[in-house]
Amino acid sequence: MKIHHVGYAVKNIDTSLNDFKKLGFKEITARILDEQRSVFIQFIKNGDYVVELIEPSNDNSPINNILSKIGNSTYHLCYEIDDIEKSINELKSDKYVIIEVSKEAIAINNKKVAFLYKKNIGIIELVEK
Ligand code: NI
Repeated sequence: MKIHHVGYAVKNIDTSLNDFKKLGFKEITARILDEQRSVFIQFIKNGDYVVELIEPSNDNSPINNILSKIGNSTYHLCYEIDDIEKSINELKSDKYVIIEVSKEAIAINNKKVAFLYKKNIGIIELVEK
């Protein structure tokens, strides 16, 4: 499966963006508030590498858990697939569990995304092409 982006939890997009720019990243989208998921999202790119900066937008954001455990850090790879329901079913039969069912993502042109977890892998995201 082709990798679409790396998800990177940050406490504050503004302050981290400045440091990512020093490392050669450029902004490729505007910052978007995803109210459904309680996050701000900003995509940046360095060469072929696309990173999604994810900042909690309130105290109930699931990203707060990640930040309190490991601080600013990568925490998911997102894979591009043709048919999200088909891929979810295949992964479920390979012992992945769904942590967020397929829903449209405002920060990725309303494409369908889902999050799954497997102990040997951690969190993955799927995005439908
Ligand atoms: Ni993502």
